[in-house]
Amino acid sequence: MHLSRRGLLFGSAGLAATSLAGCGADGESGALTGHTGIAMPTTTSDRWVVEGADLEKRLKGFGYETILSYGEDNVEMQIEQIRSMIDKGVEFLIVGAIGNDSLGAVLAEAKNKGVTVIAYDRLILDTPDVDYYASFDNYEVGVLQAQHIIETLKLDEREGPFNVELFSGALDDNNSQYFFMGGLDTLESYLYSGVVQIPSDETEQEPTSTERWDRGVARERMTQLLDDHYGERKLHAVLSPYDGISRGVVEALVAADYDPKSDDFPVVTGQDAEPLSLKAIKEGTGQSETVFKDTRKLAEVAANMVKAIVDGGTPEVNDLGSYDNGFQFIPAYLLPPVDVTAENYQEEIVDTGYLSEGEIDEAEPDQG
Ligand code: BGC
Repeated sequence: MHLSRRGLLFGSAGLAATSLAGCGADGESGALTGHTGIAMPTTTSDRWVVEGADLEKRLKGFGYETILSYGEDNVEMQIEQIRSMIDKGVEFLIVGAIGNDSLGAVLAEAKNKGVTVIAYDRLILDTPDVDYYASFDNYEVGVLQAQHIIETLKLDEREGPFNVELFSGALDDNNSQYFFMGGLDTLESYLYSGVVQIPSDETEQEPTSTERWDRGVARERMTQLLDDHYGERKLHAVLSPYDGISRGVVEALVAADYDPKSDDFPVVTGQDAEPLSLKAIKEGTGQSETVFKDTRKLAEVAANMVKAIVDGGTPEVNDLGSYDNGFQFIPAYLLPPVDVTAENYQEEIVDTGYLSEGEIDEAEPDQG
């Protein structure tokens, strides 16, 4: 699998990117009202629900009209939603894409009408019509997950071999490869030295992928891996890219008689600081890590991009050379992800007001 080398990452904010943006929906400059269409990918994961509402609130706070939609992991549905936003005269699109390379035609329609397009969290590929990208350092997410495994199993002090399995996200989400490569690169030296082994031999993105990031899909794959490779063997860790996937993995482990309360339950990583995963992390009953991406900051970055253009300026970006969408490097603002475990969840999640202890304690169990 090819992942382009991470290019120039500017530590400090404040670079101004040249933009073609600035023309109103009617093609006349200087008359922008901030009317924005927000196309989010799904309601099945907490983060997008919270962020859709957050983006609306911020943009409305600036006095702009908004249209919010959820594509429910269905590419065609998202395309229709975006088309309807264009028909209703939006000047800006903030898109959390479902299919990373399926939006070219509809974004060309948007561009014809002078709409500024901001790829939100997930880069949109193979189109010249993306103006900005607001996201996190996605490669670093995978690095943090792998480091949690390395530290928890004390791989630097022990010979192993430790049995690890890898999971990756949806193949049509551009972020998946970054998470996966960050994790794999970080584990690489342990794989070469033999401290870590992957009994399934599934080390590529495709066989480890999880369609729609779906918990049930992950549970099924984990069950199969246990059946096929872990008769006598013990599993020590699972590199999982997202909390929903992690909970599916834990369900399969529990069904195979791994005791989530015991100290030698496999180390399972995650991402998104979902309440139910934080509950397990806090109580020590399954998944032991998540990567927290402060989505309040992401919504702020994206809303401010819109405002900067409406006000006649250019959005602030801090990266010009990491994210090539097949046509060009997209000017991006990347935020730092944070590793969260039982030790620091209070400081990072509760004290910052992201979730209360109560919201974590009372998280509803998964259905189905
Ligand atoms: C996001 C992750 C999220 C995943 C599943 C990715 O594109 O970056 O934060 O866990 O989608 O929704």
